[in-house]
Amino acid sequence: MLTIQYRDWIRDVPDFPKPGILFRDITPLLGNGSVYQQAIAELAERVRAWGADVIAGPEARGYVVGAPLAATLGLGFVPVRKPGKLPYTTVSVTYDLEYGQDRLEIHSDAIQKGQRVVVADDLLATGGTMSATIELVRKLGGEVVGAAFFIELKALEGRSRLGDIPIHTLVQYE
Ligand code: PRP
Ligand code: ADE
Repeated sequence: MLTIQYRDWIRDVPDFPKPGILFRDITPLLGNGSVYQQAIAELAERVRAWGADVIAGPEARGYVVGAPLAATLGLGFVPVRKPGKLPYTTVSVTYDLEYGQDRLEIHSDAIQKGQRVVVADDLLATGGTMSATIELVRKLGGEVVGAAFFIELKALEGRSRLGDIPIHTLVQYE
């Protein structure tokens, strides 16, 4: 397999969505079929060892990582959504972002008690989104066995909010 520098496929956009935020834009990576395919394949090979029953990921960018990861591993995917989007009964939590506050929901029957769950997203910043996702999985009785991301922004120390959950990331920025 050709070595791809995923970093070369991530675009830096200063001052988006607010002044002072350096936005790490994955749309160039997503836009190239072989780069996207290899990024998912590489993450899937690392995640496989966790022996997950299901993958869960938060709207919206968590879907472009979590859903293909699940399909690659032959697992189901559980969407974690912003408020008012899921049609069935939900469980919800409020969380803080690098640039604001938000709320996430999950279907109350999406995960069975004791299921091994890997949580996935495009990027780990403060860890607010992922800790909320983990909280939702745990509320339903799931066991979070790992977290997978394309990108980690190490300076924001999101890892520290995920406790001792094992983490795989493809690209780290200091
Ligand atoms: C972004 C990103 C992660 C989260 C990371 O999502 O996709 O989910 O922020 O930041 P955190 O670690 O500080 O929580 P955003 O809320 O911007 O929504 P989007 O996926 O709909 O663009
Ligand atoms: N989500 C939170 N912080 C982000 C950043 N700096 N770039 C892209 N997505 C983000």
